Amino acid sequence: MVAATLTVLTVLALLGSVSCQGGYGDRHQAPPPQPRAYPPPPTRPQPPAYPPITSQPRSYPPVIPNSPPPKISHPPSYPPTSPSSPPPPKPPQPPTYPPTSPSPPPPASPSPPTYPPTSPSPPPPMSSPPPPPVSPSPPPPVPPPSPDDAGKKLEVGYYNDKCGYHVDVEAIVRKHVSSFDNGMKAGLIRLFFHDCFIRGCDASILLDPTSDNQQPEKFGIPNFPSMRGYEVIDAAKAELEVACPSTVSCADIVAFAARDASFFLSGGAIDIAMPAGRYDGNVSLASETLPNLPPPFAGLQQLEKMFADKGLDAFDMVTLSGAHSIGRSHCSSFARDRLPPSAAASDMDSEFAAELQGNCTSSSASGRGDNTVVEDYETPDVLDNQYYQNVLDRKVLFTSDAALTTKDMTNNLVRVYAIFPWLWQQKFEEAMVKMSRIEIKTAATGEIRRTCRVVNTNP
Ligand SMILES: *[C@@H]1O[C@H](CO)[C@@H](O)[C@H](O)[C@H]1NC(C)=O
Ligand SMILES: *[C@@H]1O[C@H](CO)[C@@H](O)[C@H](O)[C@H]1NC(C)=O
Repeated sequence: MVAATLTVLTVLALLGSVSCQGGYGDRHQAPPPQPRAYPPPPTRPQPPAYPPITSQPRSYPPVIPNSPPPKISHPPSYPPTSPSSPPPPKPPQPPTYPPTSPSPPPPASPSPPTYPPTSPSPPPPMSSPPPPPVSPSPPPPVPPPSPDDAGKKLEVGYYNDKCGYHVDVEAIVRKHVSSFDNGMKAGLIRLFFHDCFIRGCDASILLDPTSDNQQPEKFGIPNFPSMRGYEVIDAAKAELEVACPSTVSCADIVAFAARDASFFLSGGAIDIAMPAGRYDGNVSLASETLPNLPPPFAGLQQLEKMFADKGLDAFDMVTLSGAHSIGRSHCSSFARDRLPPSAAASDMDSEFAAELQGNCTSSSASGRGDNTVVEDYETPDVLDNQYYQNVLDRKVLFTSDAALTTKDMTNNLVRVYAIFPWLWQQKFEEAMVKMSRIEIKTAATGEIRRTCRVVNTNP
């Protein structure tokens, strides 16, 4: 009963924060729906049939500033069942808004892991602390983001007037993202996250080793060899350099690609108004990966601290954790601290743990001795709120997933997100934009790389 009350209070607090945020920031700057004269057809012979791409041009939803929040008493339409239909206009979303989960997605490519970071070094065994006693205070409404100045200046539609009307920069990126499989798309969301957490969203993760710097970010333990998506960025950049030379930053391509991957993997339900105008950095150090990227064996305190260091609060952290509803992980990232016999104290559902143990030790899945398993055993290829139900069911891989229930505020938010898919979708869109503003480079502090893997040498 107390828990139910807390859940309702959390929803109310969230809805309050929705209506208090001045109408959703970036969407004010969204360009009007503009049919582009140049919807480039997919170049690959077999673009994935999933999710459905509507024939209508993509347009950002209009802002409706003071409309009433959806009624929370309405039963959520969960789990996703609706067949393929174009996503309705978004905010505000009616409580019946279902995540479109069309025909069964094609299986993602089997072996390469996507998310979260592989951690070959043994994580410290960690037993989950018992949930704290329930206290009657609801979590406070989340304060609005406080990005730095450069981050604030990013604009939705930034490239609309940069390359001539016949070049649709964002459509070019989208076309390339759509031509890759679901595993790669999941990797693109992770690529963005790992880029932004180290020196900001500046494409530093894309830089290859050079004779002067043999250990760039991409060789850091959390990124190597598990990180994917580089070739998607390369392909988009190559076409953009022909269409519009030295204009579109690699950092913006990474951000657009994560936005598009989220759109495709959610069946169109997550449609982020991604601002742009980032410049590319020229510093990339493997030594900066471990200290900045939250590891899979992190407890709640460590997670909150590492997100706070990037200007993201606990609310953002819980919201962004929903990205664990897609992708795969190497067993080495969780076996030590989560599976028996080494982790007798793990709070993982025991049947689930036994199944995972079987999958992790079977020799069929991979010849390399470190199998991968899906992050979300229920809907592995759909970016949806199933993750939060999995957390509550104790059927998640990582200590950092299970840790979300160890504090009232985060636990309540998990419960709310498990019930209201539309609310999580909207907050995920907002949190991704907030993350996209971390430590942005400008013309004064960065450059527009000509090739995403190397810094420009000649001015
Ligand atoms: C374990 O492997 C089987 C067979 O590939 C699969 O159906 C099942 O979903 C896997 N279980 C988990 C928890 O990943
Ligand atoms: C990196 O970029 C900064 C800012 O543009 C510049 O001052 C610096 O010289 C560059 N460093 C290298 C190694 O290119």
